[in-house]
Amino acid sequence: MRNILITGGAGFIGANFIRYWVDRHPGDRMVNLDALTYAGNPENLAAIDTLPVYRFVHGDINDRQCLEEVFAGEAIDTVVHFAAESHVDRSILGPDAFIRTNVHGTFTLLEAAKAAWGDFAGGQRFLHVSTDEVYGSLEAGAPAFTETHAYAPNSPYSASKAASDHLVRAYHRTYGMPVLTTNCSNNYGPYQFPEKLIPLTILNALEGKPIPVYGDGRTIRDWLYVEDHCNGIETVLEGGRPGEVYNIGGINEWQNIDIVHLICDRLDELQPGAAPYREQVTFVTDRPGHDRRYAIDAGKMQRELGWSPRHDFASGIEQTIRWYLDNRDWCDRMRSGEYQNYYRKQYGRQA
Ligand code: NAD
Ligand code: TYD
Repeated sequence: MRNILITGGAGFIGANFIRYWVDRHPGDRMVNLDALTYAGNPENLAAIDTLPVYRFVHGDINDRQCLEEVFAGEAIDTVVHFAAESHVDRSILGPDAFIRTNVHGTFTLLEAAKAAWGDFAGGQRFLHVSTDEVYGSLEAGAPAFTETHAYAPNSPYSASKAASDHLVRAYHRTYGMPVLTTNCSNNYGPYQFPEKLIPLTILNALEGKPIPVYGDGRTIRDWLYVEDHCNGIETVLEGGRPGEVYNIGGINEWQNIDIVHLICDRLDELQPGAAPYREQVTFVTDRPGHDRRYAIDAGKMQRELGWSPRHDFASGIEQTIRWYLDNRDWCDRMRSGEYQNYYRKQYGRQA
């Protein structure tokens, strides 16, 4: 039985992870520490929050004292670190919070774990959840990112995640901390904040708004269903070697415009509007520094840990579209307040 500290568990992937974990490891204690920024919503954990094995702590990973209390009070032996500012466009509009949380917050968390865990003789694990974006942009046809690909981050977001990866690595090399790092491709699925491409497309289509596609729409991302990411993290937590990095990906590259069209066409069938939803697609100015292509080589996960994605894109996107159709109230609540200011700055109009 483990005592797991999950940071950022009220966000998209963290909430999916907690839901995934309680099903499979019902004896483990889970402490979710989350600052509840615009992206965090305790509602994402409805029905989990009453379980005796679960505790929510409203706290910031920059708050050393709060972390110390949690590590000591809960006898934490495992950390799964999701907490981050995660949206590239926001990092372009205002990078400060990204440096504060992703860099300094990760540093503070590492320091707290090191102080609490001493000589690391207790079988502890610190899993740092990172992104493929640290590797920068791939040329068309170039081989997918392996774990040894050089870091070349291009946005304040990816630079801040790269910095956190380096700190995590250094805590292993210098102090012997039993860390594991996962670099994953773009996730999609339930509970993703509607500022990201897939939920934004679904909601703007249904609400009769322009569907913004940056540049020529031919930018490529590798998409992984969020449950497969959770399963990948579980696999690394249980079988990964301390100090190692594991790339997790969907082996599922798509041009943005093709995903947008696919969503529009499926919505035409599920909830037809007055005109085909594709007519709402609007090409807008490209994102500055926009990475042209990401692709993950998940061969190490496959070879060493026997992991591969279980969901194909057709079923994953179907479940995702249906989830957003069934959870319009959740979307409305997530988008109230601060999100309206962001949307106006980013797209020049009301969300
Ligand atoms: P998210 O933005 O949906 O959620 C982030 C969570 O962290 C929120 O609940 C927020 O309240 C919390 N948080 C932010 N700052 C905090 C702080 N200072 N202290 C405590 N909590 C704080 O993000 P996500 O999409 O769930 O991503 C989770 C992690 O996975 C991030 O580290 C991200 O870099 C990484 N990642 C995401 C993707 C993706 O496609 N979403 C892909 C690869 C890796
Ligand atoms: P996003 O979901 O923000 O993830 P990331 O930038 O971390 O990959 O964006 C996915 C892709 O979709 C990316 O190439 C940018 C593009 N995009 C648009 O074309 N329009 C939009 O409104 C958004 C949010 C993203």
